[in-house]
Amino acid sequence: MAACGDAHRPARAVGSRPGAEPSQKGSAPVSQPLESYQDEIYLTGLTGTLPEFPADLGGLEEAARAVMTPRAHDYVAGAAGSGDTARENLEAFRRWRIVPRMLTDVSTPSYATSVLGTELTVPFLLAPIGVLKIAHPDGEAAVARAAAAQQVPMILSTAASTSIEDVAEANGDGQRWYQLYWPKDRAVGASLLGRAQAAGFSVLVVTLDTRTLAWRPRDLNNGYLPFLQGVGVQNYLSDPAFRAGLAGPVDDDLGPAILRWTQIFGDTSITWDDLPFLRQHWNGPIVLKGIMTAADALRAAKAGVDGLVVSNHGGRQVDGALGALDALPVIAEAVGSRLTVLFDSGIRGGADMLKALALGAQAVLLGRPYVYGLGLGGEAGVRHVLRALRTEFELTMRLTGLSRLSELGPDCLQRRA
Ligand SMILES: Cc1cc2nc3c(=O)[nH]c(=O)nc-3n(C[C@H](O)[C@H](O)[C@H](O)COP(=O)(O)O)c2cc1C
Repeated sequence: MAACGDAHRPARAVGSRPGAEPSQKGSAPVSQPLESYQDEIYLTGLTGTLPEFPADLGGLEEAARAVMTPRAHDYVAGAAGSGDTARENLEAFRRWRIVPRMLTDVSTPSYATSVLGTELTVPFLLAPIGVLKIAHPDGEAAVARAAAAQQVPMILSTAASTSIEDVAEANGDGQRWYQLYWPKDRAVGASLLGRAQAAGFSVLVVTLDTRTLAWRPRDLNNGYLPFLQGVGVQNYLSDPAFRAGLAGPVDDDLGPAILRWTQIFGDTSITWDDLPFLRQHWNGPIVLKGIMTAADALRAAKAGVDGLVVSNHGGRQVDGALGALDALPVIAEAVGSRLTVLFDSGIRGGADMLKALALGAQAVLLGRPYVYGLGLGGEAGVRHVLRALRTEFELTMRLTGLSRLSELGPDCLQRRA
């Protein structure tokens, strides 16, 4: 029986067909330079200069409250209903404890992997998050620059406040995926996908859990939905198929455009039978985001998609839903050998990353923390968050006695009674 630290699974490039690549076990270890952020902070501290941003990623929410407008902060931090699912997402991580191993050689570590053709220095990407200009005027462009600089792939939301093309330009030769909110108007959907492909987005992530918005008390109490104020609709306003459906030019009057957006944003009639539409219009890997049961994961595998994201949208959709981490092991067990399994909802640091990977995720998506980093310091704030997460993950892996991702498995964890 495999123990924590043994090779649990072949170190195949994730997303490649199982068995296509040899296991790394037995091959000479290829070391990878570690992030030096911790050393840099301590050395700078010798000169009396303290870091600009908090080191505790979970504490960023509080720090960001001081600089973001109250309604923007509420929009990001808020959740569906009572906030029960958002709390449960964090609680689910506390229930799993890491079991460190001692006296293993961690002098030549490498935590690099590849997911659906995308290279990851460490196994995380940036979750798709819309309306980023409410956090900072530089919005998605700042995130795209920070992500490219730190070699972290970003997933751009359909609900971005910056157009697909402008984000691609800011991201330069960075790696980028595109997230689709599947609109009712198929011509608009096809057009968005065509633009994303033309702009170099390599993987399509289709979000299934937000065909309509949930009851979100913090936004309701503020009477605030950014889209109605023209923020987060930039991909639509810049879209030729969307504009073709309007009587007049968008620039003259935003009102009719926003009304049309409310009419086409989500399609509650979509079923599994509609998935072929995506293949017709997307030439590359397709990932379904929002899968929370093994039954749906098996359905996704049968439908021929390439991967899925176990996610409950950070608790923003179904109040009372199970914590996303609690859904992960059964899904990984059901389809992990066939599909790329990604995870989000509750990642707040390196230990959380380790736990999700040990329970079967091949990479995780970082959500709210990078938005707080953006709010705190624009591009520099996001870079801080990315460097901090990478450093904390690498340190946690080494201190747990692990020098390869393939050495992670459920036996690196113990479930609290
Ligand atoms: C302010 C905000 C906006 C979001 N917008 C999108 C979006 O446009 N598309 C999407 O698929 N998910 C969106 N999400 C969900 C994230 O992709 C991700 O699932 C979630 O943030 C994970 O939870 P966590 O941030 O608590 O870790 C959004 C989340 C937040 C907090």
